[in-house]
Amino acid sequence: MKRIDLFMIPSELERASLDARQVVVVDVLRACTSIATALLNGAAKIIPVKTVEEATRLHETLDPKTSLLCGEREGRKVSGFALGNSPREFTRKKVNGTTLIFASTNASPLMAGSLSGRDQILLGYVNLSAVVNAAAGADTDVTIVCAGRNGRFSLEDAACAGALIRRLTEKGPALELNDAAAFARDYDAEHGASTEAILRRSEHGRYLVELGFEEDLPVCAAVDAAPVVPHLKEGRIMGSAQTETPKPPRAPVER
Ligand code: MLT
Repeated sequence: MKRIDLFMIPSELERASLDARQVVVVDVLRACTSIATALLNGAAKIIPVKTVEEATRLHETLDPKTSLLCGEREGRKVSGFALGNSPREFTRKKVNGTTLIFASTNASPLMAGSLSGRDQILLGYVNLSAVVNAAAGADTDVTIVCAGRNGRFSLEDAACAGALIRRLTEKGPALELNDAAAFARDYDAEHGASTEAILRRSEHGRYLVELGFEEDLPVCAAVDAAPVVPHLKEGRIMGSAQTETPKPPRAPVER
């Protein structure tokens, strides 16, 4: 039986073995949404980094005509960066053919820090069905990690993880779930019909409204609006077509 483990906050990962697993990172507000949108709009690749300083150093080594610094601190565009982290900024006009260096507060340090060296696929509501297909096609167990917010639980990430888990369980065959995965699946069954309402009641959603990013909420809640599977491999995120299934590396065989 295939197993799905959900970790609601990144620090829970410390105890987990990720070998031979499909790893899914969730950050609905807003990194995974912005990344999927950027790929849909033609970004060539996205390089997640842990810090603003690292982003700036890396940018100095790349062609400034085709690479853009993007990201936020406390939700706002970093001073001197080309783009912030609102998915509405990642238009085709701005990102087509570019390399994006991406420094967000929670998601990119997870991708490039605790999960560095692991293949990952990235989930938001905007690419839910694409990721369901990718995870269902993987012949391995699945680990889902919520980026959370400043190390704490995020309602919208857990809810979106629940939507993935519920759809995977409905596809059959039977799956073994950890308690967090079963809880998130049940939350989605109860509340998942209105994704925007989930974002509006979440702490992060309310914070973004306070900052003036209210228009981001319906964009981040739009199920399947950006049907790509962002696949992070060897430090770079590229888009896989919806039908492709990125294969995680197998654990080394002991002889
Ligand atoms: C993050 O990765 O911390 C988030 O995407 C924050 C944000 O809403 O910009």
